[in-house]
Amino acid sequence: MKKIFIIANWKSNKTSADVKDWFDKISEYKVPTSTDSEKEIIICSPFTLLSGTSAFIKENHLNFKVGAQDFSSFDSGAHTGEEPPELIREFADYAIIGHSERRKDLSENDEILAQKVVSANKYGLTPIFCVQGSDTPIPPGVTIAAYEPIFAIGTGQPDTPEDAEMVAHKIKEKYGIPFVLYGGSVNGEDVKSFTDMPSVDGVLVGGASLDADKFMEIIKNS
Ligand code: PGA
Repeated sequence: MKKIFIIANWKSNKTSADVKDWFDKISEYKVPTSTDSEKEIIICSPFTLLSGTSAFIKENHLNFKVGAQDFSSFDSGAHTGEEPPELIREFADYAIIGHSERRKDLSENDEILAQKVVSANKYGLTPIFCVQGSDTPIPPGVTIAAYEPIFAIGTGQPDTPEDAEMVAHKIKEKYGIPFVLYGGSVNGEDVKSFTDMPSVDGVLVGGASLDADKFMEIIKNS
């Protein structure tokens, strides 16, 4: 049975009250546990909710992990307003790096992203490195990549599973990365068509992860 990653990317959404509601709903379902499933479920919440997300996971005895959506390229120290990986690590095991929204809106370039991969690994955060196609450079130190074509993000128009397979296969061949995910308008109906592909090891979910019922459907159907 292959390991499947189901990753929620909440982006800049949710208050702590929303997160409580989300976990209240999730805990009503029978969520796969480590003994009956090969699914790794990761919730990437905003910085303000990392601690709360981690607490709700413990409180509800869920076998979920926490991820950050980014972190500072500075180490800890005199950097007002920055969130260094050393501090993030207290609450999270994973961190998304290189999402196309950050590349575009915050001008994060290949050099910055390569540096972030180094510092994530230094502090024990596993990078989830987003690429927009098989030509996007991937620095050394990445074990999980996510193919997220820009046209598919938040549009309701996912790429085809065949394209996702082709890109994931190329990335694995080129970089020897063990896990490659697909992201872009994934929902409960189409998730299996992606996770059934031999080179696709899971999904990165934005919009549909905000709703606990929709996210649970994705977990179940994957
Ligand atoms: P989407 O976002 O599922 O809303 O398309 C995916 C992402 O940006 O990670």
